[in-house]
Amino acid sequence: MISRISKTLINPNTHNGISISMISNYYNKRFYCNNTTNQNLFSNTKSQDHQQHDINTENTIITPQEKRKIIERIIRVDHAGEFGAARIYEGQLAVLGNTSEGPLIREMADQEKQHQAKFNELIYEHRVRPTALSPIWNIAGFGLGYVSALMGKEAAMAVTVAVEEVISEHYNDQLRKIHESNIDNQDLKDTIKKFRDDEMEHMHIGLKHDAELAPLYKPLSELVKLGTKSAIWLSTRV
Ligand SMILES: [Fe+2]
Ligand SMILES: [Fe+2]
Repeated sequence: MISRISKTLINPNTHNGISISMISNYYNKRFYCNNTTNQNLFSNTKSQDHQQHDINTENTIITPQEKRKIIERIIRVDHAGEFGAARIYEGQLAVLGNTSEGPLIREMADQEKQHQAKFNELIYEHRVRPTALSPIWNIAGFGLGYVSALMGKEAAMAVTVAVEEVISEHYNDQLRKIHESNIDNQDLKDTIKKFRDDEMEHMHIGLKHDAELAPLYKPLSELVKLGTKSAIWLSTRV
């Protein structure tokens, strides 16, 4: 029943035959739809939607509490991720700061600090609990950057490429999740899109600077990707 009516509501051309008051009553009780035409039809009830259910792109009901949980998880993990990324570049700078690669790594580190600052704002604005694993990412991030830089600039760049590839994919996954869940938060969407583009640029910088010439590039890359994915999984939940 829910699915049939919600499909009808989504298509603005198909609500002929169902009286507006019938839909409106049902809508008042169960959910609202984001379709523009229907928003106009139901403009009187939209203001009461705080406690109402919404539907996602798969026509299943999503509650405001579920949306809140999704946003919390997104901000928590990204806040942790940007902190970890900044620490990786700091570790690399401790070894390579005075070499020809120094300015390039410093530029990427500065961007990570800007990302970190934005998620510091968001975590406060949305009152999200930070991950309990920050002390671990502090040490692990710096350690990864430091050790890879000791292995040579190519290995440092290989770590950059692996981490940034995983983070770019992670940001794309989040954008999909936001869309599927009908989450209407333009600032969060714009932030993630912008940072995803920055991370992809970092990945290309690494590739351009001989990442693939690092000793044991493939296994090193796979190991770092696995570690980054595990850190993302943990920081979303813990
Ligand atoms: Fe970043
Ligand atoms: Fe980055």
